[in-house]
Amino acid sequence: MRVMIVGSGGREHALAWKVARSPRVERIWVAPGNAGTAAEAENVALADDDVPALVRFARENQVDLVVVGPEAPLAAGLVDALAEAKIRAFGPTRLAAELEASKVFCKNLLRHADVPTAEFRAFRDAASASAYLAEREDMPVVVKADGLAAGKGVIVCSTKAEALEAVERIAAEFGPAGKQLVIEERLFGEEASVLAITDGRTIVTLPAAQDHKAAYDGDRGPNTGGMGAYSPAPLVTPELLRTVEERILVPTVHQMKRSRRPFRGVLYAGLMINKHGVKVLEYNVRFGDPECQPLLMRLQSDLVDVLEATVDGRLEELPPLAWDPRPAVCVVMASEGYPGPYQKGKAIRGLEQAAALPDVKVFHAGTAVKDGQVVTNGGRVLGVTALGNSIAQAKLQAYTAVKQIRWDGAWCRKDISDKAHAALSK
Ligand code: AMP
Ligand code: GLY
Repeated sequence: MRVMIVGSGGREHALAWKVARSPRVERIWVAPGNAGTAAEAENVALADDDVPALVRFARENQVDLVVVGPEAPLAAGLVDALAEAKIRAFGPTRLAAELEASKVFCKNLLRHADVPTAEFRAFRDAASASAYLAEREDMPVVVKADGLAAGKGVIVCSTKAEALEAVERIAAEFGPAGKQLVIEERLFGEEASVLAITDGRTIVTLPAAQDHKAAYDGDRGPNTGGMGAYSPAPLVTPELLRTVEERILVPTVHQMKRSRRPFRGVLYAGLMINKHGVKVLEYNVRFGDPECQPLLMRLQSDLVDVLEATVDGRLEELPPLAWDPRPAVCVVMASEGYPGPYQKGKAIRGLEQAAALPDVKVFHAGTAVKDGQVVTNGGRVLGVTALGNSIAQAKLQAYTAVKQIRWDGAWCRKDISDKAHAALSK
């Protein structure tokens, strides 16, 4: 089989690495990829949202399966365009991807499906959102731009004044993505991610994971793309996982079908969990980055079988997925300044020493090769991932590998997976 993976982050390196382990695969391309994917596959210099160029490449190279990593090409209709060209692609269609690309669509769908989520109101424009806020009592709310905004379109507010300012900011900064808005009740609790693979009928739930969105230790500092992740997440007990399936995933997939937007691909539920239960914060329509890295490190089944069965609508026939029982922890190493402005092109040393450690895999995100040397090329640079007999051991091994790796300005959070111990001790 000939497989093409679309994207350039740590998630795509993990996908390329796992796909490369399938005995059924003869050739893999990653568009555009990074220095890590170049070691597992062949990089193709095409932007991940250049739909016509990606379709042309897939056709000319007789690609049998395209795996789409990020949300932008999904929302741009890459899977639809590939389907028209008779090329099989893993990921939702443009209309199904609205579950992530439009918060108004998502919240209305959740309401219709009776899926637990924060109370909300949707607004056509900033003026009506401000008028609503002015009238309502002062309560903590979250203001969300409707469209894709690279994780920056969600503003968590404590007071009415902050919420009014958030509406102004979204209207001013996000262009078409900020035209419509959602204002919702602010929820409190602990966050976790439950990802499921679905062909629109059968749902295969993956073990729960936890991301670390804040830049600094103790969940302080600005929001990032994710500074680390681990799986399984003990916060999500087996009973809770069943509840998530029954009350959240199943009704969502059914409602998508009823809405004539059958969902195929990864359905990623961002959840808020507290003593009252569990609610959906958001849906993503793809693997999470960095959650994908620890999940795929633990997956023992052939990923290509799973991806194909999803695309062909026969997940039901697939045997249950096999998982390494050991937990995995992924620590993101970032460039100085991230999530603000940062420099690129710093030489990275120690990758071989880190890779030589047992049960460690260093997934690349923002890296490139320059004059034969691996250099930094983004804010999140590496996802250093390790397995261990316990979460504590996986953490120790991941940080042992981190210590081998150096570049000018490299940093990481030091507390990835510590949340797990809080959950375990309860
Ligand atoms: P979203 O893109 O909708 O997942 O939002 C990104 C982040 O904003 C989430 O991971 C939460 O940390 C936070 N968030 C979103 N909605 C809420 C809410 N209703 N209450 C509290 N925090 C929220
Ligand atoms: N880890 C969160 C995301 O991929 O959006």
